[in-house]
Amino acid sequence: MKVLVLGGDGFCGWPCAVNLADAGHDVVIVDNLSRRKIDIDLEVESLTPIATISERLRAWEQVGGRAMRFVSLDIARDYDLLLGLLRSERPQAIVHFAEQRAAPYSMKSSATKRYTVDNNVNGTHNLLASIVESGLDIHIVHLGTMGVYGYGSHRGATIPEGYLTVEVPQADGSRFTEKILHPTDPGSVYHMTKTLDQLLFYYYNKNDSIRVTDLHQGIVWGTNTALTDRDPRLTNRFDYDGDYGTVLNRFLMQAAIGYPLTVHGTGGQTRAFIHIRDSVRCVQLALENPPSSGEKVKIFNQMTESHQVGQLAHKVAALTGAEIRYQANPRKEAIENDLIVDNRCFLELGLQPTTLDDGLLKEVVEVARRWADRCDRSRIPCLSAWTSRQAEALSSTQG
Ligand SMILES: NC(=O)c1ccc[n+]([C@@H]2O[C@H](COP(=O)([O-])OP(=O)(O)OC[C@H]3O[C@@H](n4cnc5c(N)ncnc54)[C@H](O)[C@@H]3O)[C@@H](O)[C@H]2O)c1
Repeated sequence: MKVLVLGGDGFCGWPCAVNLADAGHDVVIVDNLSRRKIDIDLEVESLTPIATISERLRAWEQVGGRAMRFVSLDIARDYDLLLGLLRSERPQAIVHFAEQRAAPYSMKSSATKRYTVDNNVNGTHNLLASIVESGLDIHIVHLGTMGVYGYGSHRGATIPEGYLTVEVPQADGSRFTEKILHPTDPGSVYHMTKTLDQLLFYYYNKNDSIRVTDLHQGIVWGTNTALTDRDPRLTNRFDYDGDYGTVLNRFLMQAAIGYPLTVHGTGGQTRAFIHIRDSVRCVQLALENPPSSGEKVKIFNQMTESHQVGQLAHKVAALTGAEIRYQANPRKEAIENDLIVDNRCFLELGLQPTTLDDGLLKEVVEVARRWADRCDRSRIPCLSAWTSRQAEALSSTQG
């Protein structure tokens, strides 16, 4: 299959691109390198040293990988170039990772809120409009988030894969049932853009029969896959800072450098998780099992397990001897929530979940320990607050 990987230089996109090339697909990476530029603006770097995109591609070929190409393009702004690329490459599928993906970054300022909305919503819309204009039948595999369902209390109910069957009582006492998109409940501007993406997919699928698989992904942990481990120049990025670092990788990295594990609030927040190796595998499964023509948007919950953040901190502390420090929560969110998720679609396609295992946790600690001298400890705290109230509480606990 000819596959474009939008955002193929990023944390999920790079190991995914390499995996698809290894599986024999013809891969073209499209990325505007905005993630690397944001690191420069934030004055922080991936904990692991990452090679430039050209070095990555060269290294991949030198270790015997099937060659991939790279196109530098901003999908949110360069509409004509995107359309031209579709016409010249004529891909059968496009994996869409190319969005600003950090909730704390999206909540930093009006500028980052506006950037996140402009980038994510325009990017997704440009992609859909350009596919329609090209007249090509291209399957989109999009990376969404479990956060579209929200983390309020689901009162013990299982979150289905995208659609909810509802019964609507009528005035005459009768009821009708309907399958609707699961109501959304975004918890940040970033999450809100993902809920807007959902509606864009719904509309273009209905109106233009665009085939879409939307993957509602949990928080990704781990760093490398067997393929990115083949050469140091293929190493994947490891975000640890307060804006881009994600919770479990941050705990593991904090344990590695002797920094107290930073738990926000009570730690009662429950989140869904998936290891990077499974994330990569799921994208391949979704690509190789596309919806048929005329089928509505396929939605898969791309997660393998749920955990309470505080319990994760205790698990990492028990494994490494790290200390735990509770801090004011920068986010406006439920103090505690449950999260029971249906993920049957991937299990039925053959996914063998990589669940939290001490060996894999230790592997991440080892990676972090190796690069500990690259860590700027001043960038670890989360300083991006959801509202002025959270900002006040944060500054009082940060002294
Ligand atoms: N990392 C996670 O834990 C996680 C969890 C759930 C969902 N996701 C989703 O997966 C996708 C990838 O996440 P990631 O962690 O790899 O993020 P990332 O920031 O590491 O990668 C995104 C890539 O897209 C590129 N990009 C952004 N905007 C672009 C544009 N307008 N044009 C071209 N390229 C652009 C960036 O330069 C970057 O290389 C995102 O959509 C994210 O929302 C990630």
